[in-house]
Amino acid sequence: MRIFFTGGSGKAGRHVAPFLADQGHQVTNADLVPLGHPAVDDLAVDLTDVGETYSALAGLARFDELELATKPAYDAVVHFAAVPRILLTSDAKTYATNVLSTYNVLEAATRLGIRKVIFASSETTYGVCFAQGERRPLYVPVDEEHPTVPEDSYAMSKVANEVTARSFQARTGADIYGLRINNVIEPHEYAEMFPPFLEDPALRRRNLFAYIDARDLGLMVQRCLEVDGLGYEVFNVANADMSVAATTDEVRERFYDGVEQRRTMGRNETFYSIDKARDLLGYSPQHSWRDVLDDQRAS
Ligand SMILES: NC(=O)c1ccc[n+]([C@@H]2O[C@H](COP(=O)([O-])OP(=O)(O)OC[C@H]3O[C@@H](n4cnc5c(N)ncnc54)[C@H](O)[C@@H]3O)[C@@H](O)[C@H]2O)c1
Repeated sequence: MRIFFTGGSGKAGRHVAPFLADQGHQVTNADLVPLGHPAVDDLAVDLTDVGETYSALAGLARFDELELATKPAYDAVVHFAAVPRILLTSDAKTYATNVLSTYNVLEAATRLGIRKVIFASSETTYGVCFAQGERRPLYVPVDEEHPTVPEDSYAMSKVANEVTARSFQARTGADIYGLRINNVIEPHEYAEMFPPFLEDPALRRRNLFAYIDARDLGLMVQRCLEVDGLGYEVFNVANADMSVAATTDEVRERFYDGVEQRRTMGRNETFYSIDKARDLLGYSPQHSWRDVLDDQRAS
């Protein structure tokens, strides 16, 4: 597929965009800054500018496309560009950037007839991550039916993006899938970040004790590209296990006393349900912090 990938120079995109190129896709990275990866074509675009967004989405991706008799169209958009959390800029700017850029991408993509759009939403939509004080989920494991009423500007922007995407899907009938991505972990981060998490599970309370390996996020996007016909859907995206050494029962007893548990759970199963992605997309995460840290402990 010819893919317009936004935010490919960022923490998640620099893994996912090259992964998609490795799978045989042609990938254009539309970002404020270049990625500089040999398999990905960089295009400098400010997605808060609607004219730039339309122009880039309708335009060429690289010089060899000049040899084609007609200009090629993009088959899919993967929209990751955003201000990715609170406290990077003002709350108002975080909200405005994310809402405007996502509106522009969705309007341009659907008006140009692109039938598959995958966009990055967030675990923060459930309101736990950036809550003032402690806020617990209404039930566990947290699935896509859990209310999304966050109080912070970043998560509000992601909820607004989901509402916008659902409306564009209703208008056009295109497939638009939102990914409620948990905390992205790059492979090199296990060794530096996880030892404290294993010592003190409280450090992961705001992430519902979950995480997503950047490589498994790539697999998830690939599954979204492969599975057509779902219309508008949102999916939690996480790894299968938790980011702490304590078992699921131990974490529940310590942190979720009195919180409804809706089904039996595995020994180390994540509280961030990925059942829907497994069922509708065949998503099957391949990685775990245990592979890295257990190997290190053994050697
Ligand atoms: N990192 C996480 O743990 C996490 C968790 C949940 C959801 N997400 C979401 O996943 C996506 C990727 O996150 P990330 O961690 O890679 O973020 P990042 O900040 O590392 O990357 C975002 C990229 O978007 C680009 N960008 C920002 N504004 C832009 C604009 N106006 N026009 C064009 N490009 C622009 C930036 O230059 C950057 O390269 C985001 O939508 C984020 O909200 C991330």
